[in-house]
Amino acid sequence: MALRKIITLENETLRKVSKPVKFFDESLWELLDDMKETLIKSTGVGLAAVQVAVLKRVFVISVNNTYFEVINPTITKKEGTQRGPEGCLSIPGKQCSVTRPNKVTVEFFDRFGNPITLTATEFMARAICHEYDHLDGILYIDHTKGGKLEGQL
Ligand code: CO
Repeated sequence: MALRKIITLENETLRKVSKPVKFFDESLWELLDDMKETLIKSTGVGLAAVQVAVLKRVFVISVNNTYFEVINPTITKKEGTQRGPEGCLSIPGKQCSVTRPNKVTVEFFDRFGNPITLTATEFMARAICHEYDHLDGILYIDHTKGGKLEGQL
């Protein structure tokens, strides 16, 4: 495993649309292992592959002692709303309130290509929505509707 460099807002790669994973092979596993190490080192909640400049539809999440890997996800159901503060490892030192669904169902694949369906609520649902957006080049600041970003520059 190796740490990867997290790109930040000024890098236009963050705005690109990631491509589906075709091969569930060793190069994918190496990416996932590196993303896990990078996420844990940075004490973040989630990390999308695009944030380490790899345009694949992959993200990892670490919330409440739960760690999981998400490949080629589709959000199939959204219910309710929640509003709360959000930050991003690619926008260090900032956060802003964002409205998200309170409950989402997501279909995706694990690292071996096995299909998984997960329903998540509250903070986990927020994390999934945030990471899912990254795959389409969307950042949480796009949802703030002129809301004030708080934190250090
Ligand atoms: Co982010």
